[in-house]
Amino acid sequence: MSNLDPEAFAEAVAGLMPGLRQDLELLVRIPSISADGFDPAPVRRSAEATAEVLERSGLSDIRLLEVEGAHPAVLGQVAGPPGAPTVLLYAHHDVQPTGPVELWSSPPFEPVERAGRLFGRGTCDDKAGVMVHAAALRAWEGHPPVGVTVFIEGEEEIGSDHLGVFLSRHLGLLEADAVVLADASNWRLGQPALTTSLRGLVDCVVEVRTLDHAVHSGMYGGPIPDALSALARVLASLHDDEGRVAVPGLASGPSDPLDLTEEEFRRYAGVRPGVRLIGEGGLTERLWTRPSISVLGVDAPRINEATNQLVPSARAKVSLRLAPGDDPVRAMEALTKHLEANAPWGTELQVFPGGAGAPYRVDPRGPAFDAFRKACEGAWGRAPVDVGAGGSIPFVAALAGAYPDAAFLLTGVEDPEGNAHSEDESLHLEEFERACLAEALFLGYLGGSADPSK
Ligand code: BES
Ligand code: MN
Ligand code: MN
Repeated sequence: MSNLDPEAFAEAVAGLMPGLRQDLELLVRIPSISADGFDPAPVRRSAEATAEVLERSGLSDIRLLEVEGAHPAVLGQVAGPPGAPTVLLYAHHDVQPTGPVELWSSPPFEPVERAGRLFGRGTCDDKAGVMVHAAALRAWEGHPPVGVTVFIEGEEEIGSDHLGVFLSRHLGLLEADAVVLADASNWRLGQPALTTSLRGLVDCVVEVRTLDHAVHSGMYGGPIPDALSALARVLASLHDDEGRVAVPGLASGPSDPLDLTEEEFRRYAGVRPGVRLIGEGGLTERLWTRPSISVLGVDAPRINEATNQLVPSARAKVSLRLAPGDDPVRAMEALTKHLEANAPWGTELQVFPGGAGAPYRVDPRGPAFDAFRKACEGAWGRAPVDVGAGGSIPFVAALAGAYPDAAFLLTGVEDPEGNAHSEDESLHLEEFERACLAEALFLGYLGGSADPSK
């Protein structure tokens, strides 16, 4: 380990970039959208292509892990030297739907480079995560100084519903001393991050009904509430006038403010100039350690099909992010109770619970974290900052429950301008290269010594 030369690795990784880029583009070309209602065949092709990429990275014993009703995951392994620690490398090969394709500057599944970024659905979330693992293995020419298991999931973007089954069937296979989850974000370009908490998530569909059937809006409108007006009131009850979450009984806590200004934050997100930010507490607190509620969609008549009728029923999908320390089951109960209590005018209201994922928090101390920090210094020339994340990775809490003694390193290649889940998703290519180098160095530091300061 003392003779691990970061410069030599930097050169090796630079030499690997063309091949990594080619494999990344190959993965991005496969529309592996895991969501319901989309063709599952491309997700399977994506798993197969991922397996080939891992094979080109020196892994053996590569297979698709299948569970009835789930998109396939990919597993590969390489043994380390006797007595060396073992590392589980995680990423996901499924992606979010594209949304309206006309909003994209270029077709979502045709990767193109513009201004140092590679654009395409899944570039940063999370096919580059797959490639970071491939890069680290290639940098060690398939013989890393630690035992490595790679697990690439195929249903992260739909909540990892079959994770329990995957885990119970393959628990022994996935066991490791350290787990690297390359699916989080760096702090900003040039500044790596170690993510120490994730929010949890519950969602539901709330349906309101005011009538057996639609009726003439002139003959009946006035005394009778339409379902859409009732739904609007229910949804409005989720926040108070300051935009604070109004559902009682949810956990929240403090966070490190870091150096994020409102101006920078607004710019990243594209918040319209007159729009005030809602809620209370520092920005990072509102993002990482407080709950948030968003209305994701509404089922109601479309405007060009809207006629003069009172709408009899309407539905909305409501998403609730949970602070670290909160419990998804309790939170769903609190949300349900609140929605039921806020149905106006005796409106019939039903809540259909959806997905749930637990939040996560890690104490980032120990040799694996030291090794990762040192690896970041080698790749970026600066130590990572500890950050929380507003996003969720339901896999993490489940895995951490199964392996309480493993060190969980949440890393990644996303950045605040990568537009994950939105149109024009992109990967910053120089940051990608640094992330690849960091993970290669990490394997070296972890394998070479329990104390990376030596
Ligand atoms: N990579 C994200 C989660 C993430 C983003 C973590 C940024 C940390 C920083 C992941 O792919 C994701 O989008 N997860 C979903 C989970 C959901 C479908 C259960 C999310 O957060 O919406
Ligand atoms: Mn992701
Ligand atoms: Mn995602």
